[in-house]
Amino acid sequence: MPEIITTIAELRARVAEARRWAHQDGSSDAPVGRVVLVPTMGALHDGHLRLVSSARDLGGFVVVSIFVNPLQFGPGEDLDRYPRTLDADVAALEGLADVVFAPTASEMYPHGPSETRVTAGASGSLFEGASRPGHFDGVLTVVSKLFNIVQPDVAVFGQKDAQQVHVIGRMVDDLNLPVSIAVVDTVRESDGLALSSRNRYLEEDDRLAAVTLSRALAEAAEAAAAGVGEALAAAHARVAAEPAVKLDYLAIVDPETFREASPDHHGPALMLIAARVGTTRLIDNARLTT
Ligand code: PAF
Repeated sequence: MPEIITTIAELRARVAEARRWAHQDGSSDAPVGRVVLVPTMGALHDGHLRLVSSARDLGGFVVVSIFVNPLQFGPGEDLDRYPRTLDADVAALEGLADVVFAPTASEMYPHGPSETRVTAGASGSLFEGASRPGHFDGVLTVVSKLFNIVQPDVAVFGQKDAQQVHVIGRMVDDLNLPVSIAVVDTVRESDGLALSSRNRYLEEDDRLAAVTLSRALAEAAEAAAAGVGEALAAAHARVAAEPAVKLDYLAIVDPETFREASPDHHGPALMLIAARVGTTRLIDNARLTT
């Protein structure tokens, strides 16, 4: 079983020990003393486990953080009902992670909600940021705290949260943080639904309707050769055919800038979708070429 550590001081000591040991031992093929962090909020599913096994493949000492970060939830969001399944999470990480860092909120925010925040700026106020004001500031603040606590060489995130990956990449560049970001593809159910900790909220009928998001993306990708407008129209048509899906946003962005692609955009692009199905808000995205 991975070791469970709940305090920052202990975690720092354990990571320092792992680095020292790797330098002395020298027998591993992994770059000496490499530390890889996989930040999560727990309720782990196969998508998370893919992140952690990618971390394992990078070699070195793998730390998985499990912390439901209050700062990234807005008023009326699902902070209280967000699933917390620490024992099952730790069991699922057997053989994959060296350490699980599972701090309490008071360990992470001993003075209450952090007064100092990392702000995501303009990219963080679009799409997810427009629907969830302050969300990305909360994400960047906790991720930068985790980077400072663990001081990883590499941190692994999932492409499922494409805008999160973008704003974290910008933070790392803008603030010259000494960490590399690795991004792992989305893991899907056999019908295409992207794995998410929130899928467990879906009632049976909603679960059937939820596949509309990935279908809309797939149909848009097929239509994309004809242009941005055609791809958007294909996705909108698929969503309109399923009344249980209440669209929040559907957009095609330039993956470099995360700004909406112009109608004559040619080249790699990213389609983003967010919708409410029953009481559950889902997001997904797909790369396409227009
Ligand atoms: O993607 C998540 O689970 C969270 O946003 C993260 C990166 C762990 C920060 O709380």
